[in-house]
Amino acid sequence: MRSVNSDNITETFLSYFSEDTDPRLKEIMTSLANHLHGFIKDAKITHDEWQQALALLQWTGEITTPERNEFVLLSDVLGVSSLVDMLNSNPKATSSSVLGPFHINNSPPMKLGADFKRHYEGEVVLVEGCIKDIDGNPIPGASIDIWQTAPNGKYSSQDEEQDINSFHGVFTSDEEGKYRFTTVKPCVYTVPSDGPVGKLLDATGRHPWRPSHIHYIVSAPGFKSLVTEVFPDDDPYLDQDTVFGVREDLVVGYERKAAGTFPVEGFELSGAVHEDYLRFYFDATLNKA
Ligand code: BEZ
Ligand code: FE
Repeated sequence: MRSVNSDNITETFLSYFSEDTDPRLKEIMTSLANHLHGFIKDAKITHDEWQQALALLQWTGEITTPERNEFVLLSDVLGVSSLVDMLNSNPKATSSSVLGPFHINNSPPMKLGADFKRHYEGEVVLVEGCIKDIDGNPIPGASIDIWQTAPNGKYSSQDEEQDINSFHGVFTSDEEGKYRFTTVKPCVYTVPSDGPVGKLLDATGRHPWRPSHIHYIVSAPGFKSLVTEVFPDDDPYLDQDTVFGVREDLVVGYERKAAGTFPVEGFELSGAVHEDYLRFYFDATLNKA
């Protein structure tokens, strides 16, 4: 096509695919070209605005390291990560949610009933639940990888005071699919906002806060791994998570339990908790692979 113009550029673009282009790639690129060209026309993007968009993407690339992936964060705050999750989830299984950048590979294996809280201030939180398939059958031997912030709102990789494995650990469900541990209530915190994503949030009048949560990756042979997070129902940011990660089935109540009722066995802290404590249940349902 010699005389490409704004009316035929999308059609021209689509005519450039070769006959043997992978059909799925062709479908994706066709939709992308239609939406991207449509967006440029609809918003009447100027040269200056497009330069600003490209500069933001360039900065996103420059700031990205193996420890900090700003492209993932950009996808998160634009709602794209969550939308992909929603479109690929089975309503019978537990909702998935954003992974975030603070997971560490090879977290230490923990015994059922182990404690994350250790010397940290705050009330003990007892967490219990069951890993099941979509027919309700328990999944024994499932791996439950947990991570969260310390009471200062920092993940171990952000905090020189913490050992890298602090508030990170992997449990294995028992023969009834159950797991349990103790910890502290997680804290609200902001996504990294000192780069291009922070600039974008700021320019659009958005805050960088996330509601407090505990992250889970649940996996078992024969099942799809579930990346998710669990939120307390009294968190002030539940309805305005900057990365759109909250789902109804991921919100739990932290029930206050009276002093003297902590289980006498089954927990590392059994016999050592004499005050009130909090407790929540979270069951995870996995899809077959
Ligand atoms: C997090 O939950 O740790 C997180 C998720 C998305 C972006 C940044 C942080
Ligand atoms: Fe997080």
